[in-house]
Amino acid sequence: MLKIAVAKGDGIGPEIMDAVLQIFDAAKVPLQYEVVEMGRWVFDKGFSNGMTPEAQQTIETLGILFKGPMETPKGKGVKSVNVTARKTWNTYANKRTFQSLHGVDTVFSKAGIPINVTIVRENIEDTYGGIEHMLTNDVALCRRFITRPGSKQVIQYAFEMARQMGAKRVTCGHKANIMKITDGLFLEVFKEVAANYPDIKADDVIVDDLCMKLVTRPDLFEVVVLTNLQGDIVSDLCAGLVGGLGFAPSANIGNHISIFEAVHGTAPDITGKGIANPTALLLSGIGMLRHLGLLKSAAIIENALLYTLESGVHTGDFGNKEIPSVGTAAFAQAIIDNFGKAPAHNPKALGEDVPVTIEVEKLTQNPAIASNSGEQLDTVGVDFFVEHAGQPQQVADACLVAIGSLPYKLVTISNRGTQVWPKGSIFTNVVNQYRCRIESTSGQPLSQTDVINLYTQVANHLKVASLELLHVVGDKALYSLAQGQ
Ligand code: NAI
Repeated sequence: MLKIAVAKGDGIGPEIMDAVLQIFDAAKVPLQYEVVEMGRWVFDKGFSNGMTPEAQQTIETLGILFKGPMETPKGKGVKSVNVTARKTWNTYANKRTFQSLHGVDTVFSKAGIPINVTIVRENIEDTYGGIEHMLTNDVALCRRFITRPGSKQVIQYAFEMARQMGAKRVTCGHKANIMKITDGLFLEVFKEVAANYPDIKADDVIVDDLCMKLVTRPDLFEVVVLTNLQGDIVSDLCAGLVGGLGFAPSANIGNHISIFEAVHGTAPDITGKGIANPTALLLSGIGMLRHLGLLKSAAIIENALLYTLESGVHTGDFGNKEIPSVGTAAFAQAIIDNFGKAPAHNPKALGEDVPVTIEVEKLTQNPAIASNSGEQLDTVGVDFFVEHAGQPQQVADACLVAIGSLPYKLVTISNRGTQVWPKGSIFTNVVNQYRCRIESTSGQPLSQTDVINLYTQVANHLKVASLELLHVVGDKALYSLAQGQ
């Protein structure tokens, strides 16, 4: 029998995981569970990544982790166990399906607008790299990495998943109108991948417009793929459309290891009261059963869940307030009692259990996912980020002295992305950090030694906080212009 790792988690985690496993057992789901030590409580025992080495070993052997929510200890320097797990095992696609559930009243259910939208969120990159620095005492920087191969992995997953579930449309949500390089790359890869799926309509929408459209006509969308942070926000928005976090399941899919969990957290305000809603974790578990080919088990449980919701049985966080709520265990028992009953809305066809085999490849080195585009990047200049509390002209004067008679020119100075030199507006507020763009005038690409020499020159006159190289491929600049440049 297929074996999976189970981590009950913190807060309400053990309460809802016990309820879900009780339902699985009653449905005779052909799975064995190996409970692993992972979560805040493991962190407190001195394991800085929130899991014991044995837990890591088990998960890396079994390839499937079914997990309860885990608390992120507050305080600087402490990383989220949840994010660490997703990133360590490269579960690059975060799939969250949101569908209207009869018995869970929302403005849309009342208006007769059905929702069935799946958000695929990139799960590794973006600002979630957590690479942040204070550049001056006033200026914080977060680096946002969007990569070509990382984008390709998640976008390809979205199209494959769409094809499997019979979806006709995949939409890319992005902000490429503003972040032309990062979101622009994500959108470019989206268009490249979409070309391989002519049977699926592929379109894109700017993320703010997407939010507006989702709250007015959520029924128009089927699959939406987004970068990490935008996907995080949009998926919580979608959770709200179908009744809240209690109904938001999620799957973190990777090539080797996949993690199934609810979107919500540990709910410290209701922990230990036995009133938590296990539906989101149960829906995540149902998604996991389908991932493992256990279609019949998934359908039996889902039908019983839908029937139970339709019948008005509810935990305290949703449902008809005139019907008294039940606790977690009683809710689970009601589902078990409804096995074999078909809901009036969206009954699932039973199908057959055809368990897939999960074999985690034994890796000897980290998989490299370079795109091998073979493009030659030439360095034509440097953006120096300098700490300076004075006026733009003072910064320019210092740069011009630094350049002297060297074959470079000062092209622009910006502050928080807005050009303040050679032209600008006196109404632009300035903080104590400027970006000075210095480009080569020799027509030759800069070597690393040239960059170091230039750095030395600039550092003789200004305090350099950070720098970025300016690359071109042929005539194409691989960096953004300053606003107003
Ligand atoms: P939360 O999702 O735990 O709670 C937000 C609100 O929703 C609370 O009022 C809570 O009572 C309610 N709620 C959540 N799940 C519920 C359920 N199943 N049934 C009934 N009500 C439910 O978010 P919060 O308070 O921001 O985070 C608490 C902790 O959880 C933090 O340490 C956070 O880092 C962690 N967290 C973990 C996640 C994970 O393991 N994937 C995801 C989100 C947060």
